[in-house]
Amino acid sequence: MTRRPLVAGNWKMHKTASEATRLIQQLAYSYDDAYAGVDVVVCPPFTALRSAQVTLDFDTNSPLRIGAQDVFWEPSGAYTGAISAAMLRDVACSFCIVGHSERRKYFSETDEDVARKAAALTGEGIAPIICCGETIETRESGGTVAFVTAQIEAALALLSASDAEPVVLAYEPVWAIGTGRTPTPEQADEVCAALRDCFRERYGAAAGEAVRILYGGSMNIGNGDAFAAMPNIDGGLVGGASLEAESFMALVKAFS
Ligand code: 13P
Repeated sequence: MTRRPLVAGNWKMHKTASEATRLIQQLAYSYDDAYAGVDVVVCPPFTALRSAQVTLDFDTNSPLRIGAQDVFWEPSGAYTGAISAAMLRDVACSFCIVGHSERRKYFSETDEDVARKAAALTGEGIAPIICCGETIETRESGGTVAFVTAQIEAALALLSASDAEPVVLAYEPVWAIGTGRTPTPEQADEVCAALRDCFRERYGAAAGEAVRILYGGSMNIGNGDAFAAMPNIDGGLVGGASLEAESFMALVKAFS
């Protein structure tokens, strides 16, 4: 089976609503029909999601899709500052990142939280992009595969096989995020293959074959092609290089 590649830009805490509008327009302008085989997703901050929706609505031919960077699992209620999956769907989000290492580090997000968030998203028809990744200490001790597969197992705990169909996995070594350092494409592929096995064992051979697995961490114009050539890497979750149209579209091209 051939999996449809997916390249998602995680804008993190960058871009005001008007800056987001400008970047989305630039992305749409630099889009080429040659990229039609790739899902291209932008994940602006919450405050820019509505602008992203309106900008893309205006351009009915736009192939870009919108994702959020986080969600809260409750459907509504007295949870000051929180955003529900239904609210994300209302602003046209079709994807949402969960379990990013920055959320785990700065917001004390646990594996159980990630599982609840993933379940809330699939319940609203939004595809979770579930992140995992090891620290440099874990990598150096040889524990990478055990660590990341445990993170993914925990994140999938509440999802049935049909819930899990839209799920996307993302392998993002913590030590590669924003550092300019990366694993070799072969090392990243080895971990992605293990994640695929984990999905296969849980949901069956066809699901394992179908699940899309992204690499993230200092992906850029210089290394995108090499990651794209790997058999178990189906796309990228791109941070810094997603903040400019030229570098982001170069990565879309690498996977097309
Ligand atoms: P960088 O591409 O800036 O390393 O960030 C990767 C990332 O964290 C995407 O979610």
